[in-house]
Formats: sequence, structure tokens, C-alpha cells
Amino acid sequence: MSVAADPEDADATRLSGSAGGFSSLEGIIDFSLREQGFVLPSFSAGLRFIASGAWLGALQYSKHQVSFDSFYQREYLSMSNPIQIAVVGSGYVGLVAAMCFAEMGHEVICVDNDERKVAALQGGDTLIHENHLPELLERYRNTRVRFTTDLAEATNECAAIFIAVGTPQSDSGDADLSYVEAVASEIARHITSYKVIVEKSTVPVYTNEWIRRVIERNGVNREMFDVVSNPEFLREGTAVADFLHPDRIVVGADSERAAALLNDIYAPLTGGDYYKNRDAIAGSCTVAAPPPLLQTSTKSAEIIKHASNAFLAVKISFINAVSNLCEAADADVEQVARGIGLDSRIGPKFLRPGIGYGGSCFPKDVAAFRSVAEQMGVDFNMLSEVEKINANQKKRFLSKVRSALWTLRGKKLAVLGLAFKGETDDIRESPAIDLVEMLLAEGCSVAAYDPAAMKRTETEIPASAQMRYASSVEDAAVDADALLILTDWPEFAKLDLRKLNATLRYPIVIDGRNLYDPNVMLEHGFTYMSIGRPAATHVRDQTAVLA
Ligand SMILES: NC(=O)c1ccc[n+]([C@@H]2O[C@H](COP(=O)([O-])OP(=O)(O)OC[C@H]3O[C@@H](n4cnc5c(N)ncnc54)[C@H](O)[C@@H]3O)[C@@H](O)[C@H]2O)c1
Repeated sequence: MSVAADPEDADATRLSGSAGGFSSLEGIIDFSLREQGFVLPSFSAGLRFIASGAWLGALQYSKHQVSFDSFYQREYLSMSNPIQIAVVGSGYVGLVAAMCFAEMGHEVICVDNDERKVAALQGGDTLIHENHLPELLERYRNTRVRFTTDLAEATNECAAIFIAVGTPQSDSGDADLSYVEAVASEIARHITSYKVIVEKSTVPVYTNEWIRRVIERNGVNREMFDVVSNPEFLREGTAVADFLHPDRIVVGADSERAAALLNDIYAPLTGGDYYKNRDAIAGSCTVAAPPPLLQTSTKSAEIIKHASNAFLAVKISFINAVSNLCEAADADVEQVARGIGLDSRIGPKFLRPGIGYGGSCFPKDVAAFRSVAEQMGVDFNMLSEVEKINANQKKRFLSKVRSALWTLRGKKLAVLGLAFKGETDDIRESPAIDLVEMLLAEGCSVAAYDPAAMKRTETEIPASAQMRYASSVEDAAVDADALLILTDWPEFAKLDLRKLNATLRYPIVIDGRNLYDPNVMLEHGFTYMSIGRPAATHVRDQTAVLA
């Protein structure tokens, strides 16, 4: 399915930018209530609140010095009906979204066409490593969240249907939208009343139009549905906390009816009520500082997601390029990154040099964004450079290993980390896996350890005489010629350095994540190489290797 706008389709351009927020009257009421200290979960909830008469009651209660906040919260919670939500796709995004919607008070049906996955979830197995997910699954499984393969039933019962299926990269670099299309067609076959279909998957601009067209082609009347873009910005490893404490919620809607439903769904967060809950998952948002909801056109929302990921990838490649310059100039990239990041216009985040970005999002989203720009006649070659720097970063790391060990064939290496980043078991597009494969191809033998990603990796790189999966850091390090750090798991930053030195055959550490201070490593007798910083070379150990 192409994502480019069809110039012959008048509808494809007519809808652009039509969502301009709510009317001024609504704005005035909303403002005056807020002025008086009222926390409104959403405009429509606010109207229901006024209509219920609770407004007058609340004022009387406040005269009797009853906490208005708690009164209002009780009123709001007792009168608000949980919204019936379907989430299609129960992967890293869909499952987290389903559990978090339940945590916010909604009723959720989570649909997946993978029967084994559905059975496992029904049985209480999250299948993925993600903080807080097991406890939420335990709390809501088969109560507020049901798991099923039946999209027809979910479509029937739910007001909003979130599509959270994969959008992998196709051979041409475009996003493969066939899973999204399949879900849209199936939803269309079962629509009997008004539905809001929500793009949660990361999709290129104009996907919204295609979904609408697919549904209409399946015979559904235009008045029976709206398609909304609600991109997800969670990070694996902190996905639940990110979902419940987002920097922003983006709702791209070209219809006020659909926007109102999305506002209601997110009201427990945007109104702050969720954060009043003593058992709320901790994070950065509070009652006083709830997340903002940004309402945009659908196309803007689609572009916001791709542009955000592309921008983050730019930041990573930028600091990696700077790290290469630092290596050439014998400067320290950590000092440089700190100096850059203290500029409030730039900020310190995503300025950590390493072995390049990976995972299921950045590589494919950068490629898809570049591709969609190209299809629309916009030159975004800058992103090709970003990809080039990223690919090169792995090759540079391999050269570092070679420069530490001279030849690679027959060398025994301990590898810490297989996941694309710490705190997850996701190995999709993991630079660590790419490096392990490069090392194996060079004739090294590898003993790898990862706290969560070994089972998944074993399906891609089976254990063999050359590849061993270790039971711990120490087990991986036994008799190794060098230790490589490839994933930023917090526990890898707290190794017992004395013990490690005694376990390795040669005390050489090549750190692709800059988890250690070179001086500390030197004090502990290591030869230590990292990214964008001068190597700390322990003369005795280097002599030992070269001997
Ligand atoms: N993983 C992330 O960190 C992240 C963050 C933000 C956005 N996203 C985006 O969210 C989307 C989903 O990503 P993910 O990592 O959760 O993918 P995933 O591969 O983990 O999960 C996708 C799920 O969809 C299911 N599925 C596929 N076709 C289906 C169908 N026809 N009916 C029902 N279920 C179906 C699959 O079985 C799978 O369980 C992607 O577009 C991704 O780019 C991902």
C-alpha cells in the first residue's frame, strides 16, 4: 500500500487541518471553571458534571469546608462511565496501552490474531519483559481487560478501536502497512454503529486517508466512523510509566466528535485524577502537573510521530559523529556532550554516544520518513547521512576490538548485552546482535550474557561451539580475551571490577556504552576503550596480549 496522497482523490486534501479545537464558548466555560480551582478531566466530562447538578452541590460542600478536590473526584468518578476500548495488537505498544487504559479505569478488549499469544496472556504470561506489566496483567486480566482473537466482537462492543499492529520496514524502506490495512478491512466488516478508529501504530502521513478509504470501500457509510491519529511515544523498558506519565498526548482528529471521545479516554491523565490515586504508577506527572493533550489535524499527528523519532535519531548520530571527532582529536565526548547539553536550547537527553541506535522504531521510522518525504517530492537527504553514521558506528566499534586484540580469529570474547537497549528483551535491529554476528563472522567465539534477551537471541543465533549463552556476567567473563559491553543495562554499570579483572584472561574492557570512568578502570588494572574518549591503557596487560 502506498502512502502518498492520491491527487485524484479530492477527499485526500480536503480534510487537511480542519481540526481547530473546541469552540470559544467551551473554552470560556472551561477557563472559568479552572480559574476557580476546578480540575476538568475534559470538556465533555465538564459539561456532564455541570448538567448533573454536582456543580452547585460542590459549591455548597466547599462552604462546609469539605475538600472540593476529593468531592469533585468522587463525583466525576461515580458519574463517568468507563469507556469500552478495543486494542488490536498485543505487542510492546498494544499490550501496554491495553493495561494502562484499564489502569485509567476503562474496559478493554485486547485483540491479537496470534492464538498462542492470546492464550499466554489469558494465562497471565506477559511474553515481553517490561517493568510494571506483570502486576498490571495480574490485576486486570480477565476482568477489566479481556484477551481474544475475535475482532468482530471487539468492534461490536467498543466505542474506540486502537490499531497497534506492527508497521515494519519493507524492502523499499517504506513502512509496510499491510497489517494496518488487514485490520481496517476486518473492522469495516463488523461496523454496525458509530466507531472511532485510532491509529496507534507509527504510520506515514496520509495513512489516515487510506484507512478511511478502505473502510468506505467495504461499504461503511462515512457518518458511521472517524479515523484519528494518536501516536505513541513510549520507550521500551519504561513503557508503562511513559504511557501513564507522557510528555504529551497527541490527538490528530478532523472531527470534533472523535476528538471528544479521545479527550474522555485520556481525561484521567489530563485532568490529573489518576495521579491522586495512592497506588498510581509513579512518574513525572502529578495532579498539579498533568500531561498536556495536543489536538492537531490527523496529518500533523502522523508527521509529529515520524518527525520526533527522526529528530531523536539525528541527535544520536550527531553525538556519535562528534565522538569520532573527539577520538581523532584526543578529546572527551562526555565532556563535550555535557557542555552542549547544558545549553537549554539543546538539552542533555539523547546526547549519549554509543554503538548506534537500533530497536524496532528508529531504523524503520527514519527510513519511512525519508521515503515518504521523497514520494512527496521533498529532499530529506539529511536522514540518509544519519543512517550512514549509524551504520558506521558499528564498524568503528569492530575496529576498536581489533585494535585492542590485534587479530580476531580464535579470540574468546565475553559480550555483555544483546537487547537493543537496557531494561528490555527486544532484540529487533539490535546493534549488539549485529556486532555479535560480525564477531562470529571474524572467527571469534562469544560467550554472551543479557539479563532478559538471551531466549529471544537464541532463536536468531543458536548456541554452538562458537556461541555460548552464559548464566551470569562472571560466567561470560571466564577466561575471555576481552569483555565487550554492548547494552546499557544498569547492572552492567555496577560490575565488581576486582572480581572481573581476576576472571578475565586479559583485563581488557571495550565499552560501547561509556558506562565507566576510564580513570577508575585504569586504577583497577584494565585496558579500557570506550566511545569518543581517549583509551586508558594498562601497560602490563597490553603487553600480555601482544606477547
Ligand atoms: N515498540 C515500541 O517501542 C514502539 C513505540 C512507539 C510506537 N511503536 C509503533 O507501534 C506499532 C506496534 O509496535 P510493537 O512494537 O508493539 O509491535 P509488536 O510486533 O510487538 O506487536 C504487534 C502485534 O500485532 C499483532 N497483529 C498483527 N497483525 C494483526 C491482526 N491482523 N490482527 C490482530 N493482531 C495483529 C501481532 O501478532 C503482534 O502481537 C508499530 O507501528 C511501532 O512502530 C512502537
